[in-house]
Amino acid sequence: MEGYSDSPFRRVCKTVAPTIVTYTEFTSADGLTYKAPRLLEKFHFTETEAPVIAQIFGKNEASFAAAAKFCEERGFAGIDLNMGCPAKKVVKSEHGIALRRNHDLAFRLIEAVAKATNLPVSVKTRLGWSDASDLIEFGRGAQNAGADMICIHARTYQEPYGVPAVWGPVYALKDALTIPVWGNGGVTRLEDGVALCQNLDGFLIGQAAIGNPWVFLPEDQQPKTFSDKLDVIRKHAAWMIEERGELNGMRQFRKHFLQYVKGIHNAKSFRSEICHVASLEDVDTALDLIVKDAALAAH
Ligand SMILES: Cc1cc2nc3c(=O)[nH]c(=O)nc-3n(C[C@H](O)[C@H](O)[C@H](O)COP(=O)(O)O)c2cc1C
Repeated sequence: MEGYSDSPFRRVCKTVAPTIVTYTEFTSADGLTYKAPRLLEKFHFTETEAPVIAQIFGKNEASFAAAAKFCEERGFAGIDLNMGCPAKKVVKSEHGIALRRNHDLAFRLIEAVAKATNLPVSVKTRLGWSDASDLIEFGRGAQNAGADMICIHARTYQEPYGVPAVWGPVYALKDALTIPVWGNGGVTRLEDGVALCQNLDGFLIGQAAIGNPWVFLPEDQQPKTFSDKLDVIRKHAAWMIEERGELNGMRQFRKHFLQYVKGIHNAKSFRSEICHVASLEDVDTALDLIVKDAALAAH
């Protein structure tokens, strides 16, 4: 997820749930071919995160093929082609979900990547533009073009993230294809994902993992108190600094920190401390305050 699933966050998720597979943030295939430093940084991962899937977006076959080779050299476990992003800038450039209005190009991109690499190639898309009427046709075309797996975010382009995901068309797609089909959208508990899986081969959890990497664990392994989460939160902060330096690392960590405390007693009153953390010591001080406040409230 853009802005979230960077190396430190992926490490956090793998620390909590070592058997999961994570993806990079979506990354421009064109940008990768220019070796843009910011994008190379996005593609950094440590051995503890492996296997990691690299997600790329764009609309240029040559860039996709070059990016695929680059991903292979970097040691990624697979390449995922983003054909679902609804961001205005992305759609205007005819990337992401816009490819659902240009099946031929989408299939050529898949074919270019499949030919350029030995890695498994997957496609992540949505139900469709305004409905799921072309989903099976698109899935068959993607399969024929060489996709090894397809994952469907069970919302259309026109549906905001708040609209409930509808998985029915994803099950129908699975019945029509021979490659693995995964579902995604609205899963906030591991058990719910397993139940939604039905005839599918797997599922993805996105937003529910932000501030809650424990979502990848079953109910009986969830942390009981906020104190049980401290070790992971501290590790996240330390890895952010390791990856980006203190200034940038802490700036980026603040949004995660706010999510970690979401829903706990008095969370709003710690907002200012959290939004100003500038070092590991600040993180520890804020965590101490929160834990002490929770202890007081319990008495
Ligand atoms: C902030 C944010 C960033 C996202 N970035 C990406 C991305 O880079 N690539 C992608 O395939 N999907 C991205 N998504 C979509 C999610 O991967 C996922 O498909 C969607 O949120 C539905 O799943 P969920 O309900 O489990 O979050 C993003 C979503 C959000 C909210």
